[in-house]
Amino acid sequence: MAALLAVSQSAADLCDRYARPVPPQDRSSAPSTQDLINRARSVLPGGSTHAARSYDPPIYVVRASGSRKWLVDGREIIDYTMGHGALLLGHAHPAVVQAVQEQTARGTHYGAAHPLEVEWAELIRSLLPSCQEVRFTASGTEATMLALRIARTATGRDHVVKLQDHFHGWYDAVSVNLDDAGLPVQAAGVPAALAALTRVVRPGDTGGLRAAVAPGDAAAVILEGSGAHYGRDPLDPAFVAEIREACDRTGTLMVMDEVVTGFRVAPGGMQSLLGVRPDLSVLGKVMAGGLPGGAVGGRRDLLELLAGTVYHPGTWNANPLSASAGITTLRLVGDGIAQRTADGFARTLESEFDATFERTGIPGRVWRLASILHVALDDPAAHSRLPAAMRGEGVDFLNTSAFCSTVHSLADIEQTVDAFGRAVETAAR
Ligand SMILES: Cc1ncc(COP(=O)(O)O)c(C=O)c1O
Repeated sequence: MAALLAVSQSAADLCDRYARPVPPQDRSSAPSTQDLINRARSVLPGGSTHAARSYDPPIYVVRASGSRKWLVDGREIIDYTMGHGALLLGHAHPAVVQAVQEQTARGTHYGAAHPLEVEWAELIRSLLPSCQEVRFTASGTEATMLALRIARTATGRDHVVKLQDHFHGWYDAVSVNLDDAGLPVQAAGVPAALAALTRVVRPGDTGGLRAAVAPGDAAAVILEGSGAHYGRDPLDPAFVAEIREACDRTGTLMVMDEVVTGFRVAPGGMQSLLGVRPDLSVLGKVMAGGLPGGAVGGRRDLLELLAGTVYHPGTWNANPLSASAGITTLRLVGDGIAQRTADGFARTLESEFDATFERTGIPGRVWRLASILHVALDDPAAHSRLPAAMRGEGVDFLNTSAFCSTVHSLADIEQTVDAFGRAVETAAR
């Protein structure tokens, strides 16, 4: 562990400038967790605002800084949800906070073009050369919707192809997957007529891919280049190359969803690691520096369809606050040091978790894409208990995945390894 921690230590030194403590807030007038649970149950469906935030028991966060967040009951937690992956620089990075504060005072919405949107798009293009032009949206979901709208317009085709379990937001066209029998099933509320326009291919199924694009009626193949759920189900790079080739052969557009991977796995995103140039890329999360935002980037001829043919308004497109956070973040992550730093912490955790499995004899696996760590316990029941067991030990994962940032420290890593050792034992019991 010492050697691995040494890697992280030098990485931590590099990023010390990012982390500054923020004074705790006065809790004397804060509501209790139980009070919030009761009130939430009466006003929020299921007591929650997000499908992945229905924690049992629920937690309420009042403050976050660097790698940590603090709960309404005063507990301090090491955070690896990192804004669902959006916070590569950690919570409340001082430069981002300053940029957003200054921009807030200058106005939060101009209802007009502003210099920041130009600079933001230029920065994105400088890091992702496949994005010759960029159109901003309010979220990653909106961006994948827009990418498919552009693809359908450009090709004059209605069908789209997606990969099994790849996630692109919650709207109709991408809310279809195959059941165990290989039959398509759409999410509740998605009309069958719309679902019929989406073909689902299992990752690695070359025959299925060829069949899906062969009729020449598919506008696009959309995929997470990392594999489903930011690399939880890794995708063979050879299959990504096959998708590129199948798209080229049939006039189908390749849409790479880089909402999670963009700027996180490398300054040039997953496409730079894969050496593949998509026709359209979808961005979100890190690109907006922890504020709401998304974007579609890609071939100029495709993006230019937005200059008249494809109608795309949106109150929050290129919002100046998001732009200020996004620009500040992209400036800090463009040289690759931030990614290497976060990767170093994830690498250390990977190795230590592996050692934990060996030491405890509890069957499980840990694997990693850059700064994103995935854990699985072989026993499904134990696996489902792991996130709550980790929270009980003061560590918050996104389900059973962990996003590392530039500001996770050696102390965080050591505490997390200890917590993991106890949590897998608890979950396995
Ligand atoms: C790969 C991927 N695409 C799209 C989205 C949707 O982005 P948003 O939540 O900003 O709408 C997500 C969200 O987690 C995602 O993981």
